[in-house]
Amino acid sequence: MSRSAHPAGPRYADVLHEGHYTPPPADLNALDPRVWSRTVTRNADGVVTVGGRSVTELAEEFGTPAYFLDESDFRARCRAWRDAFGPEADVFYAGKAFLSRAIVRWLKEEDLNLDVCSGGELATALDAGMPAERIALHGNNKSTEEITRAVEAGVGRIVLDSFQEIVRVAHIAERLGKRQRVQIRVTVGVEAHTHEFIATAHEDQKFGLALAGGQAAEAVRRALKLDGLELVGIHSHIGSQIFDMAGFEVSARRVVQLLAEVRDEHGVELPEIDLGGGLGIAYTSEDDPREPHEIATALRTIVTRECAAAGLAVPRISVEPGRAIVGPTAFTLYEVGTVKELPGLRTYVSVDGGMSDNIRTALYDAEYSVALVSRSSTAEPMQVRVVGKHCESGDIVVRDAFLPSDVAPGDLLAVPATGAYCRSMASNYNHALRPPVVAVPEDGKARVIVRRETEEDLLRLDVG
Ligand SMILES: Cc1ncc(COP(=O)(O)O)c(C=O)c1O
Repeated sequence: MSRSAHPAGPRYADVLHEGHYTPPPADLNALDPRVWSRTVTRNADGVVTVGGRSVTELAEEFGTPAYFLDESDFRARCRAWRDAFGPEADVFYAGKAFLSRAIVRWLKEEDLNLDVCSGGELATALDAGMPAERIALHGNNKSTEEITRAVEAGVGRIVLDSFQEIVRVAHIAERLGKRQRVQIRVTVGVEAHTHEFIATAHEDQKFGLALAGGQAAEAVRRALKLDGLELVGIHSHIGSQIFDMAGFEVSARRVVQLLAEVRDEHGVELPEIDLGGGLGIAYTSEDDPREPHEIATALRTIVTRECAAAGLAVPRISVEPGRAIVGPTAFTLYEVGTVKELPGLRTYVSVDGGMSDNIRTALYDAEYSVALVSRSSTAEPMQVRVVGKHCESGDIVVRDAFLPSDVAPGDLLAVPATGAYCRSMASNYNHALRPPVVAVPEDGKARVIVRRETEEDLLRLDVG
C-alpha cells in the first residue's frame, strides 16, 4: 500500500519500512500466534495471560521490566527439534541465545545438547549438571584457561577456529593426557540474507577457516597430524535470522565436498558435520519461519544426495539452533511512563526499560512487535515508536508499531519474541538493573530463574 493510499492526518504522517506504508492491523487486541508464545492469550477482561497468569498479576508480583518465559513452549520447541532430527542426528541448543541453570536442566530433561562459547557459559552448563560429553565449546579466541577447563571436564567437542587454536588445543590435551574430539569450523562462502553483523559464512569475517583458497583443507591436514586431537568433523554456521533454506543447502554441499577431498587426500572419512544455527523466527507478523521438520528434511535430503554423489557414508548431522528455540518463548513486560505526541511526526511511548534489556533494535535495526496487554482497547490505531529510558536517542525498543491511541502512563506493554539475545546481551548502561527472567509453566506457578539485579549488585563490583 502506498503512503498516499492511507487517510492523511498526524497519526499516519510517517512511513514505515523505507517508504512503503504498512497499514495498522485490523484488530490491535489480537495476538498473532506466530509471534507470541503458545500459552499467551487475552482473557475475557481484555488482559493478556501466560500460563493462565494475567500480566497485571505478574507485574505486581515480579515488577517491570521483566522477561516472562513460557516454559512449556520452550520444552515443546526442544522436543520439536529433537523429534524432527531424530536419533541419527544431534541438536545442540546455542546457549548464547539465553542460558541459565534452569535452561540447562530443561535441555537435559528434553534430551538436547548444548553449545557454549565462553568460560562463563561452560561454567553454567557444568554447574547445572549438563554431562560434559553433551557440550560443544565454540569461540574464535578461546583462552588457554577456557580450553583447559573444557578438556579437563571432557566436553564432547571443541570447534577449532584458527591455525593457532589447532596447536593450542592439541598441546593442552596432550599435557592432560587426553585426546580431544574436535571439529574444524569452515567458512563456506555463503552470503546469508541477514544483517551484516550476524552473517558469518562469507569470507571477510573473523570466524572459521575458508574453504576457498584451501585454508580449511590445510587446517584438516594439520589437525590430523596431532596426537592430542581426534578430528571428528567439519562445522559451518552461516548466520542468524535466516528464512531461506538455500544458504544452508549450499553450505551443506560445500561441507560434504570437503569431506570428499579429505577422504581422497588422507583416506579418512570424517564421521560428523555440523551445519550451525541461524534459523529465523517471527518477530512481526511479516516473518514466516520454517518449522524444524522442514529444516531437518531439507538438510537430510541435501546431505544424503551429496554424499551419495561423492561415494561417502552419510555423516552424523548436528545443528545448533538458539533463537529458534528460546526466541519465541518469552516476552518483555514494560510499564508506560510517558506518552509524547510530536504533531505531524509520530508519538513516542517511553517504557521503563530500553536498550539495556534489548540492544538488538539499536545494534541490528531489529524489528519487533508490541501490544497493550493490561487491557484491551477500541481506540483508533496510533503509529508509535516505543523507546526506553536511557540517555541515547537510539534507545529504541520498537521502531514502528501501532498501539491504541488511548495508551497512557501506567499501561503495560509487552514486546514478544524477546527470549533470544535480549537478557543474554543485556547491559548495565546508565547503571540500569538488569531485569529478571521469570519462568511461567502451564500451571501458572511462575518463578524467578534469573533474579532482578539490585543496586547492591552494582555496588559490589565497584570496589574503588
Ligand atoms: C556457531 C554458532 N552456532 C549457533 C548459533 C546460534 O544462532 P541462532 O541463535 O541464530 O540459531 C550461533 C550464533 O551466533 C553461532 O555462532
